[in-house]
Amino acid sequence: MEPFAAVEIIAAKRDHNELTDLQIDWIIDAYTRGVVADEQMSALLMAILLNGMNSREISRWTNAMINSGERMDWSKLDRKTADKHSTGGVGDKITLPLAPLVAACGGAVPQLSGRGLGHTGGTLDKLESIPGWRASLTNDEMLKVLQETGAVICAAGAGLAPADKKLYALRDVTATVEAIPLIASSIMSKKIAEGTSALVLDVKTGSGAFMSDPAKASELARTMVQLGKDAGVKTRALVTAMDVPLGLTAGNALEVRESVEVLAGGGPSDVVELTIILAREMIDAAGIVGKDPETALKDGSAMDHWRRMISAQGGDPDAALPVARETHVVKAANSGTITTMDAMKVGVSAWRLGAGRSKQGEKVQAGAGIELHAKPGDYIAAGAPLMTLHTDEAARFPRALEILEGAVTIVEGGTVNRLPLVLERI
Ligand code: URA
Repeated sequence: MEPFAAVEIIAAKRDHNELTDLQIDWIIDAYTRGVVADEQMSALLMAILLNGMNSREISRWTNAMINSGERMDWSKLDRKTADKHSTGGVGDKITLPLAPLVAACGGAVPQLSGRGLGHTGGTLDKLESIPGWRASLTNDEMLKVLQETGAVICAAGAGLAPADKKLYALRDVTATVEAIPLIASSIMSKKIAEGTSALVLDVKTGSGAFMSDPAKASELARTMVQLGKDAGVKTRALVTAMDVPLGLTAGNALEVRESVEVLAGGGPSDVVELTIILAREMIDAAGIVGKDPETALKDGSAMDHWRRMISAQGGDPDAALPVARETHVVKAANSGTITTMDAMKVGVSAWRLGAGRSKQGEKVQAGAGIELHAKPGDYIAAGAPLMTLHTDEAARFPRALEILEGAVTIVEGGTVNRLPLVLERI
């Protein structure tokens, strides 16, 4: 005999009432067990989207999702754990240089990642462009890689927050993804269950981000930081710019190449700067005493950790990365300063070239994407290359070019109006 009826819980939230702890525990558990039907959970999710949840309800909802599965334990490690989560953006490859960098500074980074859906790429898709690299590891393999290399990036297993897997799929088809309580609990249930002791959240805002409004991004960041603290995880958040793509590449192998450039001491300044800022936050939050990230990038130790991390998961760090069969160069229509470059349009265009998927399970093209030759603030002459599109199928160019229309503004003597790289620290 079930202690509650789903319909009463739905009615309570519909009528703006608070849900009790026991109601929340039961509905998440019963939904995961298949006792509460999708149509009932859909109605409850919509009521939450419309009427919200208070901080107690969000915290309890998150805990119930964590308790639906396993909670990982890294207490056997002799290093402190720190992780970061980004809400995702165009060209956001920061996890790739960041994880080995923090390892080189003395931390352990247990990063459970996802695959991309839509215009922002997933970390696993990027790493899978490295020949031989394996995303699926058992918990014992994860521990071994962490112990040996200080960083592991792999796919979250089925045992981690299974309630979130079911809920996220349902939210996707019921227009209930956008609710801050649901986003915050979804992200934080996975990160808390992952067992990291410190967590830095990179909440993106701007046209290419999930939360384009900075005020909403800030609210999401605050909600997640509180959830982390409630769970005993040392949590901080930065709200960072995603009005323009990060770095000069968007696409799987293209982004791996750029990450390796950063680890070699080069790479675009915004990627380098954000990687160092996030590494310092992770190290500080976890209380790690070690090398400074800037030094670890310059002295080659971050690169050594990258090579070990990739090899430990079957990848060949020296193998040539896949290259797309076809390229198309977009040239500047006029001379002047680039004043805007719409991150969302660049992301959607890279996706149309084959870098992303439109359905779960679809294959992505490792070599597809966009390489930028100039960014806002740069002066460009008419006819000079602005960006190169990469794909294995030339038939994809027209749709990719169509979306890029109006994505870049070039104005003679124009001034750039960009968001600062870090808008807020919480
Ligand atoms: N990422 C998640 O994991 N969950 C959300 O709800 C949104 C983004």
